[in-house]
Amino acid sequence: MKTEYILDADKPLSRSLLWQIQRRYFMENGMAAWQDDVVPHQISSSPYMARAYADMALAYVEEMADTLDFSKPFVIIELGAGSGRLAYHFMRQFFPRLAASPFAKLDVKLILTDFVPEIVQFWQMHPRFQKYIVAGRLDFALFDVMDRRPLHPLNSPHPITPNNGNPIILIANYFFDSIPQDSFVLQNGQLHSNLLTLYSDQPEPDLADPALWERLRLAYEPIPQSPPYYDDPLYDEILQLYEAYLPDTAVSFPNIGLDCLRFWQGTGELLLLSSDRGHSSAEELVGQGDPLPNLHGSFSLMVNYDAIARYVEMAGGTALHVPHYQDGLQTAVYLLGDHSETAVIHRAFDRAVAQNTPDDFFAVKQAITPHLDSFTLPQLLSFIRLSQWDGAVFEECFPALLAQLQEADPVWYGDVIDVVTAVHENYLPLTDTDPLEQKISTIRAICVQVWKLQSPSL
Ligand SMILES: C[S@@+](CC[C@H](N)C(=O)[O-])C[C@H]1O[C@@H](n2cnc3c(N)ncnc32)[C@H](O)[C@@H]1O
Repeated sequence: MKTEYILDADKPLSRSLLWQIQRRYFMENGMAAWQDDVVPHQISSSPYMARAYADMALAYVEEMADTLDFSKPFVIIELGAGSGRLAYHFMRQFFPRLAASPFAKLDVKLILTDFVPEIVQFWQMHPRFQKYIVAGRLDFALFDVMDRRPLHPLNSPHPITPNNGNPIILIANYFFDSIPQDSFVLQNGQLHSNLLTLYSDQPEPDLADPALWERLRLAYEPIPQSPPYYDDPLYDEILQLYEAYLPDTAVSFPNIGLDCLRFWQGTGELLLLSSDRGHSSAEELVGQGDPLPNLHGSFSLMVNYDAIARYVEMAGGTALHVPHYQDGLQTAVYLLGDHSETAVIHRAFDRAVAQNTPDDFFAVKQAITPHLDSFTLPQLLSFIRLSQWDGAVFEECFPALLAQLQEADPVWYGDVIDVVTAVHENYLPLTDTDPLEQKISTIRAICVQVWKLQSPSL
């Protein structure tokens, strides 16, 4: 009989050794997780997503106009910002529009955070970030959600704390799915803590060994539990509601994510913009099995956005969820604090998110990508423009673009140049030898060559 080693026994999920494996992955891999395209980020860091967030952030500034203190910074904090690509797209959309708004003099700063020092250093040195750093618009700091403390930005002597005199915007994409959460089981109307034991067929001294996942076995055991479950009565209230109303099912609980939200809200006002794979209503929670990691270098678990929404509303805030089912990625917006006006945010959410979800765009993109070789040149250009000049979309269109360009009427070449120029400006390369630059040069060279043939005086 095969011997099994117990690596970790009977732990609430949020305290399982699984999260040490996750931490080791991110710490050991640093930027390579994105440079080698291992950790997925195409949707969560796309310019399409950034446009929606820029709309929401501007609407929030407008909504909070009466409470703003122009003598203090207004901070937007991105949690677990990874590649930095969402931030780059966000800044390109947000700051020009802020400058043209009545809030041009507001000292808005975007602070990118992660818990991996190598990543923070990479951002600090990135050439495309320099102009924003110099303008005082962008800074970087370490932040570990397991050790919630004020931020110490690299380029400023002033720490960033909750309750800093202005509302705070938090951005959390593919973040809540990558940080510890708990799991419960409902059986016959009784809530159970779903305790996790990890087994392997060998001792596992190296938690960074990627082959470990092939040997790991997860076994959950539901143990009846009564309140209090947590130190926050609102968390308990949500679980008691689930206990009272949900049929038998497993249900995850984003306790660490909520702790983070509470920390950054302090006693002030906060807007959370978040996108992740998850469930946004109680109906979607039903029928879940034990939480199993979805592996992609790191791992992720589904996020219980229903619980986040309930927490926000019980705390007196407003939760904005898209009214339709989002198959791939949920995008959700939450307001916390005493401010009771929400008309501007509601309107912005409707326009920028509900009628335009990144999930909708990427569902259609996925369906049409295999057929790009049947697109005409103008159709390819339209697709790239609709994506907000997304480098990844351009890369997918590149073979078809090249083929079409050879035969196209040169009347289109001006538009082609405009599109590839916008793609180039909008792109945050993660290595010095990024293949996208080469592809853009190839397209440009073809256009210029044909123009020269047509007008030798050029
Ligand atoms: C799946 S990645 C998402 C990155 C980026 N937001 C995106 O959408 O592509 C999760 C990010 O959270 C960071 N992270 C993981 N555990 C963390 C923790 N305990 N505290 C802060 N950040 C953490 C990782 O380093 C990583 O950058």
